[in-house]
Amino acid sequence: MNSKSLVSIADISKEQMLDLLARARYFEEHPNSDLLKGKLVATLFFEPSTRTRLSFETAVNRLGGRVIGFSDASTSSTSKGETLKDTIKMVSNYADLIVMRHFLEGAARYATEVTDIPVINAGDGANQHPSQTMLDLYSILKTQGRLDNLTITMVGDLKYGRTVHSLLMAMRYFNPTFRFVAADELRMPAEYRRFCDTEDIAYSEHTEFSEDVINSSDIIYMTRVQRERFSDVMEYEKVKDLYTLRNAMLAGSRPNLRILHPLPRINEIDRDVDDNPKAYYFEQARNGVFARQAIITAALGIDIPKP
Ligand code: CP
Repeated sequence: MNSKSLVSIADISKEQMLDLLARARYFEEHPNSDLLKGKLVATLFFEPSTRTRLSFETAVNRLGGRVIGFSDASTSSTSKGETLKDTIKMVSNYADLIVMRHFLEGAARYATEVTDIPVINAGDGANQHPSQTMLDLYSILKTQGRLDNLTITMVGDLKYGRTVHSLLMAMRYFNPTFRFVAADELRMPAEYRRFCDTEDIAYSEHTEFSEDVINSSDIIYMTRVQRERFSDVMEYEKVKDLYTLRNAMLAGSRPNLRILHPLPRINEIDRDVDDNPKAYYFEQARNGVFARQAIITAALGIDIPKP
C-alpha cells in the first residue's frame, strides 16, 4: 500500500490529522492557487454522490489542477466486465491521484494494493468515509473552538453510516463522550462499540431521542437511514422515519450546540431547523472543499506556503 493514500481514518496519526486541519484553515483563507498546476486527479464514482465528488473536483479546480473520471460507472468499461484491478491500473497510467467511491467495503484498500499513485477513499460501502470525517472535524473545530472533551450525539443509521464510523474513530485522540441514538436494528455495530471500550471512550446507547440527550450535547450528528444498504425494503420502511429533529426540540439546548449532517437529508431534520443558527449542515458541506484541498495536497506531498 502506498503511504500517501487516505483509506481509513484509523490509518492517520493525531499529528497528521492536526496538519490536515491546519491546511484546511489555510485553504479557507486562500482558496485559489496553482499548487496543483500540471497535476491530474481522477474521480471514480461507482456510487452516486453530489457533495463528495463536486467538492473534490472544486478543490482540484481551485488549486489549478485538472480532473478526469466518471460519476456513473455504467458509462465506464466496468459495464463490459472490466475488473476493479484493471480499471485502477489503467487510470494510474493517466492520473497523479485517484479519488474513488465504491459500494464494496475494502475497495479503496484494495485499490492501493494495485497502484503506486495515492488513492483517497471517498466512501466504501458502509465502512469508511475519511474525507467526510476531516470536514466534520474541521466543522467541529470551527464551531466549538476545540476538539477535546465534547459530547457528541449520533442519531439515525449507526449501523450502515460510514460517516459516523469514521468520525467515531477519529475522535479517539480527543476524549469525547458519545451518545448513540438508534433503533435496535440500526445500533452502532459491535466492532465500533468494542473500539470505544478499547480506547476508553465513554458512550451510552439510547432508543429515545430525548430532551436530556439533546440538552446535554455539544454536537448532534444526524444521519439518513440508507435505503440502498437494506436488502429487505420492509425493514427499511420500519425504521426510516423514527427520528426527526424539529426546531422546537432545540429550545433548551446548549448555546454552543451545532447540528451536523453529512447530507443528503430526507426527513431526519425538519426544514424548520434550517434557519436556527445552530443548524450548521450547509456550512459543513462548504468546509468540504477546504478539507479536500488539504487532503489532496498532503497526498501529493505539496507543501503549503509558509505565512
Ligand atoms: N456527504 C456525502 O457523502 O454526500 P454525497 O453522497 O452527496 O457525496
